[in-house]
Amino acid sequence: MDPPSPGGIDLISAAQACEERFLRQIFVRDQMAEWSREPLIMARADDVCYWDVHGKRYLDALSGIYVVSVGHNNRRVIDAIRAQFDVLHFSPPMHGTNPLAVQLANLLAEIAPGDLSTVKFECGGAEVTEAAIKMARQYHRLAGNPGKYKVISRYLSWHGSTMGSLAASGLKGRKTVNEPLPSGFLHVFPPTCYRCPFGKEYDGGRCGLTCADLIEQVIEMEDPATVAAIMVEPIGHTGGIIDPPEEYLPLLREYCDRHDVLLIFDEVITGIGRTGEMFAAETFDVTPDILCTGKGMSGGFVPISAMICRRPIADTFWGPVAENPGFVEGHTNEGHPIACAAAIAVIQEILERDLLANAREQGARLRSGFEKLSGKYGVIGDIRGRGLFQGIEFVQDPATKQPFPAERAFGVQVGRRALRNGLLCRFDPHWLAFGPPLTSTAEQIDEMLEILDQSMGEVLSSS
Ligand SMILES: Cc1ncc(COP(=O)(O)O)c(C=O)c1O
Repeated sequence: MDPPSPGGIDLISAAQACEERFLRQIFVRDQMAEWSREPLIMARADDVCYWDVHGKRYLDALSGIYVVSVGHNNRRVIDAIRAQFDVLHFSPPMHGTNPLAVQLANLLAEIAPGDLSTVKFECGGAEVTEAAIKMARQYHRLAGNPGKYKVISRYLSWHGSTMGSLAASGLKGRKTVNEPLPSGFLHVFPPTCYRCPFGKEYDGGRCGLTCADLIEQVIEMEDPATVAAIMVEPIGHTGGIIDPPEEYLPLLREYCDRHDVLLIFDEVITGIGRTGEMFAAETFDVTPDILCTGKGMSGGFVPISAMICRRPIADTFWGPVAENPGFVEGHTNEGHPIACAAAIAVIQEILERDLLANAREQGARLRSGFEKLSGKYGVIGDIRGRGLFQGIEFVQDPATKQPFPAERAFGVQVGRRALRNGLLCRFDPHWLAFGPPLTSTAEQIDEMLEILDQSMGEVLSSS
């Protein structure tokens, strides 16, 4: 049946949406010419599955993109959103806020570790990491150190697409085309222990953690009086799931305390249960000064993100208006009541169903599944990550860590084959990652692993 045609405008059908002439009207991926040859267009979803416009089913081992934390079509969240529409769907952010935003801020303060207790809402990951940078700079200004403005972050990191968050990010492929980017951003090497950039072996910390030590040296060489913040993802994503050695984040905490530098955790992916704790800050037992979260926070039902800062930092922004402008940052849709209703329902769902325990349990199952595949095929060099955020690095020879030739893009071949076989996961030329909903059952994790197994087998036997 043809869809309704409001005001005489022709609406296209789901099936027509795949035709190239209609795809000319939208930018989806970086290179549309390639993507539009086999476009992936999802029509509906339920629990841990998507169905595309052709009716094909995909197991969602990626929560969309680490977003659908409590599963697709989650009734608690949908009911909460529906109920909120009847009460208040928008409140005036220039002049005030709404009860749900206050309630959600208090809920986040309760579940966040340490004295992380004051919240600023944003709408997405880039907005929130950029806001954290602004908060660090303004905090130092208000605290009488206006010269502290530089931000140290890491190569291979991803903090978002806006100019400030992009400047902090460390992916040349996404940055170079947009340069020059704002100044004041310095980059250091991340702790990629499997391929240590300093040629060392971790071996229980005997390497001396050059990756961390160099960060303190950078602060000192730059002059601590100019450095505002260090921003890191506790577990890096875009570099291939960069799991830090246990000493790494505590060392960053120490350097920050020593040099009056704020520690910012970008937990846009790792936050809200993904690592098996509510925040990765707890997983690694390190409390940052500012914690950014987003993605899974509202389960993908309505976009929202949040920055949670420590009480002493928040207090700096209170004072007489003549001397203190407050935190100069804001967006039209911040603290949106519908998004707040969704986020409250998501967090309640996680707490009441103890989905943190489930993430740990299914995470252990996932890890052992990856280990079995490693033994079966001999092309997995390393398994990294925590809870339901784990990835594998593909190598030609695990003994020598020899990667597959770049032109073979083995990980991309496996990921594409998995898509064809009905599995959505994150893939890159040399690695592949899973981040399924926190609601995933043992049977669903097993089925995801089975499709990965089949896909790896098919790629290896065809080469
Ligand atoms: C760690 C991290 N930070 C920030 C962002 C940016 O989030 P958004 O795409 O919502 O702007 C992302 C997005 O993938 C991310 O993975």
